[in-house]
Amino acid sequence: MTNRLAVVILAAGQGTRMKSSLPKVLHRIGGRPLISHVLDTAAGLQPETIIAVVRHERERVAAAILDHAPTTVIVDQDEIAGTGRAVEQALGALPADFDGSVVVLSGDVPLIDVVTLQQLTLTHVEQGRGMTLLSAIFENPTGLGRVLRDASGAMRGIVEEKDATDAERRITEINGGIYVFAREALARALAEIDTNNAQGEKYLTDAAARILHAGGVVDAVATDDQWLIAGVNDRAQLAEAGRELNRRIVLAHQRAGVTEQDPATTWIDADVSIEPDVEILPGSYLQGATTISSGAVIGPDTTLVDCEVGEGAHIRRSEATLAVFGPGAEVGPFSYIRPGTELGARGKIGAFVETKNAKIGDESKVPHLSYVGDATIGDGSNIGAGTIFANYDGVQKHHSTIGDAVKIGSKNVLVSPVTVEDGAYTAAGTVVRKDVPSGALAMSVAPQRNIEGWVAENRPQTSSARAAEQGEEERS
Ligand code: UD1
Ligand code: CA
Repeated sequence: MTNRLAVVILAAGQGTRMKSSLPKVLHRIGGRPLISHVLDTAAGLQPETIIAVVRHERERVAAAILDHAPTTVIVDQDEIAGTGRAVEQALGALPADFDGSVVVLSGDVPLIDVVTLQQLTLTHVEQGRGMTLLSAIFENPTGLGRVLRDASGAMRGIVEEKDATDAERRITEINGGIYVFAREALARALAEIDTNNAQGEKYLTDAAARILHAGGVVDAVATDDQWLIAGVNDRAQLAEAGRELNRRIVLAHQRAGVTEQDPATTWIDADVSIEPDVEILPGSYLQGATTISSGAVIGPDTTLVDCEVGEGAHIRRSEATLAVFGPGAEVGPFSYIRPGTELGARGKIGAFVETKNAKIGDESKVPHLSYVGDATIGDGSNIGAGTIFANYDGVQKHHSTIGDAVKIGSKNVLVSPVTVEDGAYTAAGTVVRKDVPSGALAMSVAPQRNIEGWVAENRPQTSSARAAEQGEEERS
């Protein structure tokens, strides 16, 4: 035997218990499909080849695998059912001279890690075994294969629950479904295995007894971390695996210098990257390819999807997708930041603001109750409270441009497309329909006129009329 290594990932099963139109291995935890976690772990072993076996929803599953790991070899399983058949067909894709170890993983066992597999492979090779499997002691082993041992503790084989005797069902050491095989021994065993069992399938687990029978060495290594072999068969197990993955991700960030006040309500996808000295407050969801720079404070109750947060920025009680926040930027509370938003250094998107496709320059501020859609705002400008960029004419979207150091008054409507040049002002309540030149003040509201005595005449006997009368007496 050599040190050559190949990985086979089983992903041909139907996943009936998910009750889903989506193939089981494409259901997500940590923000990406189950199968991609297994593919990453496989890649971490640096094998010479990774083979994935598919059949159910073949096109979708293969596309997802190749999208994540383009060099994966896809093998189609034929109509003969069972994990043994799946591996047998995968072996056909290995070079004829491959005489190394074959690691077998399941597409629905997402939390297995690289270190455990490296140790398993190492002992397997050192002990010159034909098969090494990862087992665990389960208080409730129902549904899983049991590891059979003789009085001396030597492994004798594996029996599936459906084929087990009552006595065998009382065994608590279960087969985790993760294995290392010597290629030769495995190929010989699989050639001999039949489908003569309760499920009419070609069981990979039967390889244990076959290899022993042929004089090979077989053993199970028990792990005390049961999550490593936790399979996802239904939606409850999907949620459990997702929660555990999140717990591990949150802990890894804490160990790397990130403050997370409440791990139980902090959800971080596998692909998020966070620098040390970031603070994440309770109820925060960091998703997709979000990156957060040092000194930033996120939350509480904030969702960021595919966002880039600069150093020392503070995003509170807000939701943002595909947005970039510059260093020292401030956002929230209660803002809705949609794709294409870019906020400059020390810029501000305050309370109850919605933005979309909006480039807001350094130190520019949109502090209160505004909608900024399809706009470019220069540096050091201020957008008054309650301002709306009216970007939609009912047929098309239009873009507006605001220069540097512009002061847009409160409750303006900028009827796009329109340009307000550097240093211009607009008065409160302006409806900006025409471009405003540099340094000008734009106003569109008619001058105010006060009609004396209007309330007494038109609203007699009201509280306003009485208050006005009282005020008049006090003044006189
Ligand atoms: C399998 C083991 C069982 C072990 C358990 C651990 C066998 C016969 N049994 O049972 O001893 O305790 O895993 O989780 O191996 N697959 C294929 N092609 C097939 C059938 C399955 O690729 O024809 C794939 C599935 O997509 C899945 C994996 O193999 O990724 C395991 O199959 P599954 O049907 O879930 O096996 P279990 O009943 O869980
Ligand atoms: Ca399973």
